[in-house]
Amino acid sequence: MNSIGIIGSGTVGQTLAQGFKKHGYQVRIGSRTPAKLAAFAASSGITAGTFAEVAAWGQTLVLTVTGTKALEAVRLAEPASFRGKTVIDTTNPLSDAPPVDGVLELFTGPNSSLLEQLQAAFPDAHFVKAFNSVGNTRMVNPSFAGGRPTMFYCGNDDGAKAEVASILEQFGWEALDLGSARAARAIEPLCQLWCIPGFRQNHWTHAFRVLWD
Ligand SMILES: NC(=O)c1ccc[n+]([C@@H]2O[C@H](COP(=O)([O-])OP(=O)(O)OC[C@H]3O[C@@H](n4cnc5c(N)ncnc54)[C@H](OP(=O)(O)O)[C@@H]3O)[C@@H](O)[C@H]2O)c1
Repeated sequence: MNSIGIIGSGTVGQTLAQGFKKHGYQVRIGSRTPAKLAAFAASSGITAGTFAEVAAWGQTLVLTVTGTKALEAVRLAEPASFRGKTVIDTTNPLSDAPPVDGVLELFTGPNSSLLEQLQAAFPDAHFVKAFNSVGNTRMVNPSFAGGRPTMFYCGNDDGAKAEVASILEQFGWEALDLGSARAARAIEPLCQLWCIPGFRQNHWTHAFRVLWD
């Protein structure tokens, strides 16, 4: 199993770091200021480092940073360390504006996506969008009476997508391949849809599931 370098120290980064560790992977987690992860590192046994240290170390990377700062974070982490690696991109292109009627604002338009921006800026990395359409509390081994939920993923590299599909299945998801990076134009706005019951009814623990005939 590849070693996993998590680039991002928020709730998603910490949740996925613990999830990968639980599933037997070697994991490290990165921050611009790793010292702030001291308590997390002590309780989880997961070593923290700078973005650059963790990106250089991990054989597979997971990007879990604020969407508006995603390009900046990869630059800080040294793009050379992303070359040829699978990068699971959990980010969403959310603007800093507050929700209106429960609807968050994206900084991308309908015919663009953050995944495509990342892939164009760092063409040697193999970005795969995943984990962006569910809340962090249900990312690892989600359990629902209605059955296994669906995680949509997409990206341009078939090998990277196969690796991510296997991780998603291991984490308890039905992994649904929606094709190339272009499909992120449809997958990323699912975060807006997912958040509406949160803002309207304070319900934050649901997930999407596709019903097949
Ligand atoms: N929260 C959820 O349940 C959820 C669910 C699905 C998807 N997502 C998406 O996952 C991503 C991570 O979300 P999150 O809630 O865990 O945390 P977050 O607060 O969106 O992001 C925290 C991370 O962003 C980094 N960051 C902030 N400003 C930066 C800058 N100027 N340059 C470089 N890095 C910067 C932080 O770096 P430092 O470590 O240095 O502070 C930290 O690692 C977001 O794109 C979010 O939309 C979130």
